[in-house]
Amino acid sequence: MTRVLVTGAAGFIGSHVVEALEAGGHEVAGLDLRSGDDVRDPAVLGRVLPGTDAVVHQAAKVGLGVNVADLPDYASVNVYGTAVLLAAMAEHGVGRLVLASSVVVYGEGAYDCDRHGRVRPGPRSPADLAQGSFEPRCPRCGAAVAFTAIGEDAPTDPRNAYATTKLAQEQLAANWARETGGTATALRYHNVYGPRMPRNTPYSGVAAIFRSALEAGHAPRVFEDGGQTRDFVHVRDVAEANVAALTTGEPGTLTVYNIASGEPHTVGELASALAAQRGGPEPVTTGEYRLGDVRHIVASPHRAAVELGFQARIGFAEGMKEFATAPPA
Ligand code: UD1
Repeated sequence: MTRVLVTGAAGFIGSHVVEALEAGGHEVAGLDLRSGDDVRDPAVLGRVLPGTDAVVHQAAKVGLGVNVADLPDYASVNVYGTAVLLAAMAEHGVGRLVLASSVVVYGEGAYDCDRHGRVRPGPRSPADLAQGSFEPRCPRCGAAVAFTAIGEDAPTDPRNAYATTKLAQEQLAANWARETGGTATALRYHNVYGPRMPRNTPYSGVAAIFRSALEAGHAPRVFEDGGQTRDFVHVRDVAEANVAALTTGEPGTLTVYNIASGEPHTVGELASALAAQRGGPEPVTTGEYRLGDVRHIVASPHRAAVELGFQARIGFAEGMKEFATAPPA
C-alpha cells in the first residue's frame, strides 16, 4: 500500500482517480480548491505532504480558455501551481509524481505525404477554413496528406495557453526528477469523457457540449464537416492508467505515455452516437470552425500498453451509451 496525495481530487478525472486508487488498496488523501485547499499554497502542502509516498497531480485549469485574458490564470494555476508542488515535494521527501498531461502538447497530429513522407503541417489558413477546406495539406507541396497515430517521441507543438502550460508542467517535472532523483510519469490524456464530466462551459470538451445540447433537446452542432478525428477515452480507464503509473518509471527521469482508447473516431461519429443513445435530435453539421482547432490528432497508446500494462477496457459504443445519460458533475 502506498500513501498517495491526489490534487484536484474533487474534479472530474481526480474523483475517479481517488476511487481507482482506493479500490487498488492505496491510502488516499485529497486536495482540492473546492474545499479551499490551493496547491499554490506551501502551507497547505506542508500539512498534507509529510508521510506521502506519491503525488498524483490532476489539479489544473483545463479546456482551451476564452481569450488572452485567461493567460495569467493558466500560468498561475498550471505552471506556478506545479512549481510550488514540486518544491514542496522535494522539501518533504516525496519521491514520486504522476502528472496529468495532454495530447494537446503535440499540436496537429502527424501526416504522411505520398511524395514527402512524414510531414507536420502548420496551422490551417483562415482562407482555407473559410472555403470549407478543412484538411491540412503537405507543407512542402500542398498535396493531400493522410493522418497517422503519433508516438511519444513526436515533436511537441503546443498551440494554445492550456497546451503550453501542460508542456511546461512536464518540463518542470523532468527538472524535479533530475534534481531530486524522483520518479516522474506524465500521462498525456486523449479526449477524456464519462460520468461527472462538467457541463457545457467555455472550458468543456466536445463530448460534454454535445451531451448538454441533447439534454436540453437541441441538436449537437458539429463544426467543420464532422470529419475531425479524436480518440475518446473513458475516465475510468484514465483512472486505471494513473494507478498503473504509480509502480513504474525510472528514478531521476520523466517518462511520458499517451493514454488513449486506441479506437479513434470522428467528431461526427461522436455526435451521432450520443444522439442515437438519447433518441435525438439528429446532429447538425454547421461548417463553423475555430482557428485554434487541430483537424486530426490520434495518439498511439502502444507504449502505455507495453510499459504500463495499460489497455482501455471501455469501448466507444459502451462508454457513450453510459455517458449519454450519466449524471454530470
Ligand atoms: C480536448 C480538450 C483539451 C484536451 C484535449 C486532449 C477541451 C476544451 N479541450 O481538445 O483540454 O487536452 O482534448 O486531446 O476540453 N467541436 C464541435 N462542436 C462543438 C465544439 C467542438 O464540432 O460544439 C469540435 C471542434 O471543432 C474540434 C473537436 O470538436 O474539432 C474537439 O473539440 P474540443 O473537445 O473542444 O477540443 P480538443 O482540441 O479535442
